[in-house]
Amino acid sequence: MIELTIDGVATSVEPGTTVLDAARAAGAAIPTLCFDGRQDPFGACRVCLVGVEGAPGPVPSCTTPCRDGMVVDTRDPTARRVAGAVVELVLSELPGPPAPHTELAAVARDLGVGEPRWPGAVHQPLHDDRHPYLSFHHELCISCGRCVRACDEVQGAFALTATGRGFEANVVAGLDAGFRESTCVSCGACADTCPTDAITEISLLEVLP
Ligand code: SF4
Ligand code: FES
Repeated sequence: MIELTIDGVATSVEPGTTVLDAARAAGAAIPTLCFDGRQDPFGACRVCLVGVEGAPGPVPSCTTPCRDGMVVDTRDPTARRVAGAVVELVLSELPGPPAPHTELAAVARDLGVGEPRWPGAVHQPLHDDRHPYLSFHHELCISCGRCVRACDEVQGAFALTATGRGFEANVVAGLDAGFRESTCVSCGACADTCPTDAITEISLLEVLP
């Protein structure tokens, strides 16, 4: 077993356990965006940052394995400040505030992020409503990659592809032929994991505010 300290409390975990899993098992709440416990950690968003004694800066907890003697601070002010700036930047590119029930909104609340301070280009509405059960609002996509990994790793359908870079980054279905012409099997795993409601089951769209 590996012995470490999380928020001042000694704990022990199996080798290979990530700091995120250890912290959550110990009752600490760490915000995440690109992480979904059903998928391999991706380490793309840098929202799950924590402080680790002796480290030169905050580390992403979802991809960092626990080490013997590690001292972790999940409320480290620098980690929270950087994670908050990351979320603020993400929000600054959206056409409006995230819907309150989404994971993105919850993460922003957790990190104390409100109205973005950096006005700039925002994504314009671009909707793909060709699928009978799934609606894709591309302007809400934050390129976390969770839907692509859900489709590949969980369902094995490979219907979704990440495209573009930076501000242009997004996700397309069926090499942009649309969901309907893709290898999509309508499992809904993409909508289930999406933290922003960019992909939503149409039945849910009809009942949500
Ligand atoms: S559609 Fe949703 S799950 Fe997929 S990359 Fe965009 S925000 Fe992430
Ligand atoms: S949740 Fe860890 S890097 Fe995104």
